[in-house]
Amino acid sequence: MEIQLDEGALLAELAPLLDAPRCRAGLRNLAGDPFFVAFFLTSVSQGEGLGEAAVGMIGQDELAARIRDLPKQEREERGHKERTIDAARDLFPEWFAGDAYRFPDALQGRTYYVEVLERNRERLRAEGRYSRLNLYLTTTFAYEIMVLLLYRAVADAVRSSPLPAPVRDRVVRVIDGILEEEEGHVGVVGQHAALLETPRGDLSRDAEDLLDALAELELRDYRIPAEMAVRAVVSMMERYCDPVAYRAEIEASARAA
Ligand SMILES: [Fe+2]
Ligand SMILES: [Fe+2]
Repeated sequence: MEIQLDEGALLAELAPLLDAPRCRAGLRNLAGDPFFVAFFLTSVSQGEGLGEAAVGMIGQDELAARIRDLPKQEREERGHKERTIDAARDLFPEWFAGDAYRFPDALQGRTYYVEVLERNRERLRAEGRYSRLNLYLTTTFAYEIMVLLLYRAVADAVRSSPLPAPVRDRVVRVIDGILEEEEGHVGVVGQHAALLETPRGDLSRDAEDLLDALAELELRDYRIPAEMAVRAVVSMMERYCDPVAYRAEIEASARAA
């Protein structure tokens, strides 16, 4: 099925979720506290690393080769992983032991990533439209929508935070730089159309099966995980509403390990 999806309209539709009062309050607490800014940047780095690895998730070279700019996207996600962790280490060395973040078990990147991936996998299976290519495309789309909304909201909160100007400037610069590249990633639905047009002649059976499953994918298979992903980060931001308890929990994760 051909998918008509207006990414800009979907972003505008989902953006108000991050305007909920508790999410706003959480963002403000995050952006004003060096401990949480370090934690957030390191969590982002972890999530971006998984985004980089996900490019290999298609596991089908004939079709992966049809997806435009895939190596570029992989390279950019790797850059995001590195730039965020470098900024965190430079700005907040007190929460690193050498290169290693002190509270790795509390980071949100992997928890969030796996939650959205697995819920989406379950949903596609239940709908009878699961394939690893379908999971890759819809989950990647969801992450990219979420990233644009969340990173923008955090950058805005940091811009007006009481952090020292040099810290604020570096954090905003890193996030804005990433956002610029992420805007190109959200076009994943365009890849859907290009893949559907793949000439079938010389394809392997495996690739043909993936294209058959792709043809079954519907518009809501992109929209639903995107909303799921945004709602997941809204709950994540709400955790900063109780900064004392959340910080204690993060610090306790090191002692428990
Ligand atoms: Fe990224
Ligand atoms: Fe991306």
